[in-house]
Amino acid sequence: MKKIVLVISVMLVAGYLFNSIVLDSVFIDAPLHAQKAIVIGASSGIGKALAEVLANNGYEVGLTGRRADLLQGLQQKLPTKTFVKQMDLRTPEKSMQQLEELIQEMGGLDLIILNAGFAHDDKDLDWQKSKEILDVNVIGFAAMANVALKYFLPQKHGHLVGVSSVCAEYAFKDAFTYAASKSFASALCQGIRNTVRPTGLPIYVTDIRPGFVDTAMVANCPDKYWESSPREAAEQIYDAIQSHKKIAYVTKRWRIISWALQLAPDWLIDFVV
Ligand SMILES: NC(=O)c1ccc[n+]([C@@H]2O[C@H](COP(=O)([O-])OP(=O)(O)OC[C@H]3O[C@@H](n4cnc5c(N)ncnc54)[C@H](OP(=O)(O)O)[C@@H]3O)[C@@H](O)[C@H]2O)c1
Repeated sequence: MKKIVLVISVMLVAGYLFNSIVLDSVFIDAPLHAQKAIVIGASSGIGKALAEVLANNGYEVGLTGRRADLLQGLQQKLPTKTFVKQMDLRTPEKSMQQLEELIQEMGGLDLIILNAGFAHDDKDLDWQKSKEILDVNVIGFAAMANVALKYFLPQKHGHLVGVSSVCAEYAFKDAFTYAASKSFASALCQGIRNTVRPTGLPIYVTDIRPGFVDTAMVANCPDKYWESSPREAAEQIYDAIQSHKKIAYVTKRWRIISWALQLAPDWLIDFVV
């Protein structure tokens, strides 16, 4: 019995080392072509800051969202060529078509950031709000990923970035629909990564898990802590993209909360939260 446990342990450690050292270095050595990026949900908060960071680093950027006035205002300020596409993810098939059009208008796509999201707590059990979370964060997210992947596979390169949340790992009370939607986003990222890895193609998938970021989404949220500015969050996301991270906590110290949530007993979480 001891021998079986030992053999399995050695295989797991060897597999982990092979995966994280050998395979990752092969992928990281692949050329980085990313020059044209699309930010889904670029009108405010993290998405807007990311569009600014990308443009300041030379990317041509496609900006999407429902509030066309905000997207056009942002477009005026960015130093590189930019494109605006008004899009409401609650109509997924139309959004997919609009994303395809945007890629055509931009003349290609190297990087897509699936950032759009909607949040509402479950205290009032308002089904219309719950449905909107699922429409935007689940169906809309999957629809955008589908179009991007269908573009990346034949062109044989690309980078898909999903903005999930630390909540993907732990569903806090009164926020179960949002947390479940973020678990979906993280699982989709992992599954796509596992699907493209055997191809050996330089197609990367990064799962971004922010903690609190100072945006409209959490403006009324009480008891915030370790809150970063959208700019700081965007810069850390940009670094994670450049180093082809699989999962990145934003800011980095939110990894500690992630570990703590895995280890803490329920009574302790009930006491603290
Ligand atoms: N702020 C935080 O503390 C925090 C923490 C963890 C994860 N996140 C995630 O970070 C992402 C960005 O959120 P944020 O904090 O920057 O909030 P935000 O300022 O409210 O930004 C949300 C973005 O999503 C877009 N969006 C929402 N509903 C949409 C729809 N139906 N169709 C198309 N676009 C839609 C919005 O554009 P329009 O309104 O113009 O459509 C906006 O650009 C979200 O996925 C969120 O879940 C945020």
